[in-house]
Amino acid sequence: MLKLGIIGCGSVMQGPYMELVNKLVFKKILQLKTICDVDKKLEKILSKKFYYNNFVTDYNKILKDKEIDVVLILTSMNEHAKIAKQCLKQNKHVLVEKPMATNLKELNELYTLAKKSKKYLVAAPFVILSPTFQAIYSELKNNRIGKVALARARYGWAGPNWGEWYYKTGGGPLFDLGVYNITTLTGLLGPVKNIISKSSISKPYRVINGKKIKVKTEDNFQIILQFKNSCIAVVTTGFTMQQYNSPAIELYGSDGTIQMLGDDWEPKAYEIWDNKRSSWELYKTPYANWPWASGFTHLIDCILKRKKPIINLDHAYHVNEIMIKIYESSKKQKQIAIDSTFKPLVFRKRIKTKKSFLDHDRSHDDI
Ligand SMILES: NC(=O)c1ccc[n+]([C@@H]2O[C@H](COP(=O)([O-])OP(=O)(O)OC[C@H]3O[C@@H](n4cnc5c(N)ncnc54)[C@H](O)[C@@H]3O)[C@@H](O)[C@H]2O)c1
Repeated sequence: MLKLGIIGCGSVMQGPYMELVNKLVFKKILQLKTICDVDKKLEKILSKKFYYNNFVTDYNKILKDKEIDVVLILTSMNEHAKIAKQCLKQNKHVLVEKPMATNLKELNELYTLAKKSKKYLVAAPFVILSPTFQAIYSELKNNRIGKVALARARYGWAGPNWGEWYYKTGGGPLFDLGVYNITTLTGLLGPVKNIISKSSISKPYRVINGKKIKVKTEDNFQIILQFKNSCIAVVTTGFTMQQYNSPAIELYGSDGTIQMLGDDWEPKAYEIWDNKRSSWELYKTPYANWPWASGFTHLIDCILKRKKPIINLDHAYHVNEIMIKIYESSKKQKQIAIDSTFKPLVFRKRIKTKKSFLDHDRSHDDI
């Protein structure tokens, strides 16, 4: 039975990750050996909610425990790279929430270490595992809408009212939310050659856990990505959107359009405009309740079956480099070149989709 350690026991650990962990514990695939948070108060709360062996406040205890095979890093973002490097050095498989790193130095160190390691490093987000993403990927491969010239992506909300770090340097909606869009677009369209962006602090103060704090990092972004295949995309992200009712991803090809409905971390369906048919077609994908934390079950499956994770480290590095350079672009007010690249993604299974109906007057309420 694999033994698991979790570092960072806040909002995301207590929700989606523990749901998946509990399923594997119930099936006796996993033992949740140790959980760690610097916040000692959590021990009492979590002991009533979850079954685990130890609670610790120093993650070195997880690193030193030779029995622990896999570690989930679910802390605030600035901690990710440092802890992930230490886990790999201690011969553990690692899942790290996004971003892998908040600066290029740490990103390069972690990437170099992971490339040499025999253990797996899978970096969130896991949007490319979603059946809807994979179905759209097949449609593009099958040339359903011709050559894609333009794309748009969007993910935002009003912003967290917990975790002050979300509003400090190394936090912010780009690393937290825009990362999904950039992973989706690069996953579908390939590597980016340069970027240019504008960003701002739209709300200088926020109330976090009932306390007024000064915002220290941008909460509002408009980004342009130019791809190596010459497609140009716009990514809109911010803790500045109250609601929306438009597709997460729009791809404009020479023969048609594809739109992903819902958010890319929780897609509902996709629709295609095909010039030959001259109509919108709506496709529902199976597994409508695909869990966005499924990179975790994928990692466990890969460890047990000794297969390489689909989550591609070169792709994750590319996305992370783009995000770090978006900050540089905003600051210097100029276009910045992207140095890294990655090979096209490879999927093992073909996703079956179900055409729902031919629809000229699309209503999102129908989905
Ligand atoms: N909350 C969400 O909806 C959500 C969704 C997807 C991904 N994520 C990602 O998950 C990560 C965590 O987000 P969250 O919302 O759960 O944050 P959070 O602030 O609720 O939880 C983070 C926890 O990590 C702990 N921590 C920080 N540094 C630590 C250290 N060195 N050792 C041990 N514990 C430490 C904090 O005390 C805190 O309890 C982030 O990377 C975020 O981008 C969050």
